[in-house]
This record gives sequence, C-alpha cells and structure tokens, in this order.
Amino acid sequence: MNDNTTMNAVRQHAFGGPEVLSVERVERPTPLPTEVLVRVHAAGVNPVDWKTRGGTGMAGVLGDPPFILGWDVAGVVEEAGFGVTTLSPGDRVYGMPWFPRQGGAYAEYVTAPSRQFTRLPADVTFEQAAAVPLAGLTAWQALVDTAAVQPGQRVLITAAAGGVGHLAVQFAKHLGAHVIAVAGPRNQQWLTALGADEVVDYTAGRFEKEVAGVDVVLDLVGDAYDATSTRSLETLRPGGLLIAVPAGVSPELAAAARAAGVRATAFLVEPDAPALARIAALIGDGIVTVEVAGVRPLAEVATAHREAEEGHTRGKIVLRVAS
Ligand SMILES: NC(=O)c1ccc[n+]([C@@H]2O[C@H](COP(=O)([O-])OP(=O)(O)OC[C@H]3O[C@@H](n4cnc5c(N)ncnc54)[C@H](OP(=O)(O)O)[C@@H]3O)[C@@H](O)[C@H]2O)c1
Repeated sequence: MNDNTTMNAVRQHAFGGPEVLSVERVERPTPLPTEVLVRVHAAGVNPVDWKTRGGTGMAGVLGDPPFILGWDVAGVVEEAGFGVTTLSPGDRVYGMPWFPRQGGAYAEYVTAPSRQFTRLPADVTFEQAAAVPLAGLTAWQALVDTAAVQPGQRVLITAAAGGVGHLAVQFAKHLGAHVIAVAGPRNQQWLTALGADEVVDYTAGRFEKEVAGVDVVLDLVGDAYDATSTRSLETLRPGGLLIAVPAGVSPELAAAARAAGVRATAFLVEPDAPALARIAALIGDGIVTVEVAGVRPLAEVATAHREAEEGHTRGKIVLRVAS
C-alpha cells in the first residue's frame, strides 16, 4: 500500500534487543501551523537510540512502546504549515526534531516546528547531514555554549573517534584550542589528520598519567567504563571543567570534583537550528569533515543497531530512508 496517508516507519512494540525493530505501515503525520512535513532521506543512528530501544536512554521520556526511534533527520521539506516563512517545499534541510521527546526519524516523514530545521549547503549529502545533528549539537553546545572554549585552552576529548568525538575534535581545533584526543590504536593517525594535537591510546596506558593542565574535559565514555569521568578529574587544572556527557555527575563524582578543586557538570543536548546552521557552514566550507562509517537501508536497522552497539564505530552509522 502506497498512499498519502500512510508511510513506512521502524517501530517497536516492546523494549528489547535489535530484533524488536521492524518496518511497518503507520499513519503519515500532518504538519500543524508553524510546522513542516519533511520527507526523510537519511537518518543517523546514535547511542541514545539503542539505549532507548532497550529501555534506558530516553525510554522514561517516550514511555512504553510502540514508538518510532531516531532524532537525526536529513531530507526535503514536503509541506510547510500555516505561518512558516523561513522554509518552503523543496528545501533540503536537517535537524534534531523534538529531542528528548519522540523524534520519529526512522520513518519516511516527520513533522516538527520549522525552526528545529535548517537548510543544507548544496554540496553536503543527505547521508553526511544525517550523521550530524545529535552528535554535532552535543559537541557544539558542550564546547561553545557550556565551556566557552577559548584559543590556547587545553581540551581533552575521550571517545574522540566516535560520532560526537570526531566532530568535537574538529570544533575544538576550529576554536583555537590545543586538542588532546583519547582513542584506540587504529584511530591515532586519523585523529591527528582531523586536527588533534596529541592522541593518547587508551589501550596502552592511563590517559590521566600522560595528560595534565587541561582546561576542559569532554568525557564521552563516562564512569561506566573504567571510571573514565572520575579518572579524568586528575588531568584538569584547578578550576577546570569536566563535562560528563554519557551519564552526568553522580554524587560520588561531584564529591571527587570538589575535593580536586575542579568543576563537573552534566549535559543534555537540545534542538538548536542556529547552531546547526553554523555547523553546516563549516562542513560546506570543508573546515569540518563528517565521517560516515556505514550506510544501511531502513530495512537493515537491526544490523545497524548491532554495529553501533559494539561501541567502536569510527564516526557514524546512517540509515538510508529514501533513495
Ligand atoms: N548527554 C547527551 O546529550 C549526549 C549526547 C550525545 C551522546 N551522548 C552519549 O555520549 C557517548 C558517546 O556518544 P557517541 O555518539 O560519540 O558514541 P559512539 O559514536 O558510539 O562512540 C564510539 C567510539 O567510542 C570509542 N571508545 C570506546 N571506548 C572507549 C574508551 N574507553 N576510551 C576512548 N574511546 C573509546 C571508540 O573508539 P575506539 O574504536 O578507538 O575504541 C568509538 O570510536 C554515548 O554514551 C552517548 O549516549 C550523550
């Protein structure tokens, strides 16, 4: 069945492993006043997707299934609701609609407020663009808005080869920082090429023994793996800032930060079209490179989740929704 009232979407009817994801026919959304209907061409896969699928992540916000996962949208405006003046049908756009509520990106169409999307430069592909919103906004809002990174500051980034990390390395470099990236052995040269001034191999030793005098730690691993957030406190200068991205700041981590004379903050990304416009310009101008490790059709969403969940993706995995 192919009509104007239904669409293909990935839904789940229970929390669980990748096997709970299936492509189904569901009702196609209609834009309200100030909203746009976007034909999705590609959708990014983020760790919050597989965490939510399994009952953690944003499961508490979405509530019980059924729901449609995904927050990274790249596509074309199909219809603009009453009052929308800044986007028109035919515009190529990208965005992170509705986060942390249901974004519904794993589907042929999404609706959201027009100002949660921004136009794409002509030479940025949908697959590149779909890799960016959640990861790019996380890196941008953490480094620019939260830490206000200044030229010459020392910035340490863990999981530097991942979706957020590889963009954070490039943003921090663009801001004039001295960038120290933590990654496994196969990513050392690649991160240097992206602009890291130092790359520390986390499999070869303890990064906190090799790095000191850091102004800002962007921790993308968290305390769940080998106490990474807590260990990173040792690298900070007095008054330096830890942004604990994956799991926030536990009472124990807060106490350790106080004792060390440094600051620690939790962080949650928010929709932000102006920041996406600045990021799109950096990509369009060739200043920032987006690494897409793999592209799979929507029907292979379970495989994409299995790959992403292994935790060693270089850059991003993207779903192709429309051809
Ligand atoms: N709070 C928020 O708003 C927010 C927003 C975005 C993401 N997050 C969270 O932040 C985390 C990172 O997200 P992401 O999208 O960047 O994840 P990702 O793309 O899945 O990260 C994969 C990368 O992690 C690296 N890695 C794994 N273990 C490592 C370790 N011990 N030390 C250093 N690097 C390691 C891997 O590199 P190697 O192959 O070199 O090991 C791989 O490249 C996730 O937990 C995610 O849920 C939170």
